[in-house]
Amino acid sequence: MLSKSQARWFFVGGTVFFFAIFLFLTFDTLREIPARQNSEAMTESVVRGKHLWDAKNCMGCHTILGEGAYYAPELTRVVERRGKEWIAIFLRDPEAMFPGQRRMTQYDFSEGEIQDVVAFLDWIGGIDTNGFPATPDLGRALVVAIEAPTTAPEYFGTVCVACHTVAGSGGTVGPALDGVGNRMTRAELDRWLSDPQAVKPGTAMPNLSLPDTTRGELVDWLVSLR
Ligand code: HEC
Ligand code: HEC
Repeated sequence: MLSKSQARWFFVGGTVFFFAIFLFLTFDTLREIPARQNSEAMTESVVRGKHLWDAKNCMGCHTILGEGAYYAPELTRVVERRGKEWIAIFLRDPEAMFPGQRRMTQYDFSEGEIQDVVAFLDWIGGIDTNGFPATPDLGRALVVAIEAPTTAPEYFGTVCVACHTVAGSGGTVGPALDGVGNRMTRAELDRWLSDPQAVKPGTAMPNLSLPDTTRGELVDWLVSLR
């Protein structure tokens, strides 16, 4: 049995000890915040993207940093998961990536607005969230893009892979592209990538509005798939 004064000191000592731990943790959190919030990377484009995010109520369906509605995917790490190019094409036309299956609203964003939304999502992805959200093991090449793609195979791995396979990994909306260099000439590939609708009206392959250099590199790469 504790005596009355021992009990008092037990209470006082315990309270002081745990209050000190509480103060230290509060101090530690406040000290960590500036290094984690990524505020130095906040450009005007990021701010405009955030305003669009609010104005269009993206949070009515999506979560970001865990906040929002649970109808649609968490977007905190979406740039890492999909890549900027993929997201830009998706926002231009959500159906383009998954014909006939998707429920994402089609917003009539201008190109500048798309860049702003992507900049905002990219900035959110730069916040140090201590590993949140955990990366699911999707087990597919769809998740390869971390930087904006620069080489043709990287571009393929970011955008085209949503619909095509090469060497067995990718989507099955379009045909596998292994050996496409045997089926199609350089000129045919170039015409196809410039405007699929012009070559085959009604085709499910979207016009990806590729810049000339990217298209040229993709054609060189596709020709080499034999
Ligand atoms: C009405 C609900 C709804 C709203 C509002 C909405 N989305 Fe979505 N979004 C979805 C659904 C559902 C998906 C997943 C299915 C799909 O791909 O269509 C999705 C997918 C996405 C993806 C791809 C995520 C991934 O991992 O593949 C991005 C990026 C995205 N939305 C951004 C936005 C942005 C930015 C806004 C606001 C401008 C927005 N969404 C508003 C429903 C919504
Ligand atoms: C949204 C899905 C989708 C995306 C994204 C996509 N494609 Fe396609 N692609 C298709 C479909 C569907 C076809 C079949 C078209 C048809 O026959 O109507 C096709 C056909 C092709 C063909 C012709 C293949 C053949 O054997 O006839 C090539 C080459 C091709 N795509 C290259 C690409 C490249 C390169 C990219 C990325 C820059 C890409 N595609 C992105 C859906 C897609």
